[in-house]
Amino acid sequence: MKKILSYIWPVTAKTIDSDTNGKLEITYYNGKKMLNTKDANYSYGSLQKILEYALSKIEFDNVKHVLILGLGGGSVISSLRKKFDFNGDIQAVDIDEKIIAIAKNDFDICTSHNLTISKYDAYKFVKKNNKKHDLIIIDLFINNEVPDQFYSVIFCENISKLVN
Ligand SMILES: C[S@@+](CC[C@H](N)C(=O)[O-])C[C@H]1O[C@@H](n2cnc3c(N)ncnc32)[C@H](O)[C@@H]1O
Repeated sequence: MKKILSYIWPVTAKTIDSDTNGKLEITYYNGKKMLNTKDANYSYGSLQKILEYALSKIEFDNVKHVLILGLGGGSVISSLRKKFDFNGDIQAVDIDEKIIAIAKNDFDICTSHNLTISKYDAYKFVKKNNKKHDLIIIDLFINNEVPDQFYSVIFCENISKLVN
């Protein structure tokens, strides 16, 4: 019913309060379930379209390992698997356990032999880890802001050390 009504106006199915991301909303819009914050779409809406445009510029033949910083509802995982037929390894990192629970419970993002999800601060993660990836997708927001640390030179240097 919510899905049908959402063709007339957006219908919020669920709200969750997160200490990290503030108020999170799972909303149906034009029959599609998406994850929003107070001021931004996080997953399965306009942001997914932008990420898909970026991914359409990537040559996937040599991509075996993908690192995603910022899981959200996991829409980029869905795009990689369904739209770009990517079957390699994905490691996703997010700081917010409520977001990780939403991805799993509301958007069916299931960990498996080729998908791992870590609850970790991405800034610390790239400092501590040394496993290399062929593609790193950085999608780190708190509401509609990218935290300052992700504009720092040190973060960029740490990222470049992790990319093949
Ligand atoms: C726009 S959402 C990501 C959407 C996701 N890429 C998708 O495809 O659905 C931004 C995410 O960045 C995460 N985030 C923000 N700061 C972070 C940090 N310091 N470390 C890890 N994740 C962080 C938020 O918890 C949020 O889930």
